[in-house]
Amino acid sequence: MSAHPLLWARFLYRHDLRHEDVRLMDNPRFADWEPMYRVAREPLARLTGRTPEELDRFYRELAPIHRQLEAEAGRLQGASALMQAPLLYLIVRATHPALALETGVSSGFSSRLILEALEANGSGELHSIGVAQVAAGRSSDGLGDAVAARPIGYLVSERLRARWHLHFGRSDDVMPGLLTSLAQPLDLFLHDSRHQYDTMTWEYTTALPHLRPNGLLLSHDIHTCRAWPDFIAARSLAGDEELDHDLGGVRVPIAPARG
Ligand SMILES: C[S@@+](CC[C@H](N)C(=O)[O-])C[C@H]1O[C@@H](n2cnc3c(N)ncnc32)[C@H](O)[C@@H]1O
Repeated sequence: MSAHPLLWARFLYRHDLRHEDVRLMDNPRFADWEPMYRVAREPLARLTGRTPEELDRFYRELAPIHRQLEAEAGRLQGASALMQAPLLYLIVRATHPALALETGVSSGFSSRLILEALEANGSGELHSIGVAQVAAGRSSDGLGDAVAARPIGYLVSERLRARWHLHFGRSDDVMPGLLTSLAQPLDLFLHDSRHQYDTMTWEYTTALPHLRPNGLLLSHDIHTCRAWPDFIAARSLAGDEELDHDLGGVRVPIAPARG
């Protein structure tokens, strides 16, 4: 814990001032998952309908997964990883989705945590849509090139791939056909692709009619623009929860809003 202020200072200098991508282990949100869990614990309980104590039990399962990821990927660049992915693990453990869809793959950090949770649940499948390019940013240590050369989803271990369907392409090309081909409604949709108003709004609008009542609409980067708050307000999606920093989540009403 004592290293945190220094880690944050170094991270903010390189990431926010110099606009560099940093190694996962140099990102304070990756180094310690506890602070984001503390912030998100109550909103997560409201969103999932689980008690905070039940969530604590799922949170404790993350320790070995975190250690494994530190060993496997700590020295690699973050590549725009969704740093709240451990919260996705908790949501999936708490709600047991049978069918989940995410957009935006890059390293596959969010895919990995969702798939770890599906594996722990013993059921469920994940479809991920992403352009075939890792989002490796500029860095002064030259590590970015190694990551940029990797296939998207490189953080997803072989043992987890049986539940995974990876679709290469842009969400607006892939989503319509994929959604109509699915045999059952989605239980969970997550946006983490291009964080621009038109793309975010299009993805929410396209996914919503395919989510089952009480399903989960999740989005990263909800503060990048007005897309998330505008959509939530326009569709009267009550219970808008900001889970931590810039991860948002709402439940689809039992009688789904149309539009
Ligand atoms: C923020 S990163 C995703 C991070 C990932 N969820 C993770 O946790 O590692 C966004 C990714 O979406 C890709 N992308 C951009 N526009 C897209 C689109 N329209 N459809 C699908 N993927 C897109 C980018 O190339 C980038 O790899």
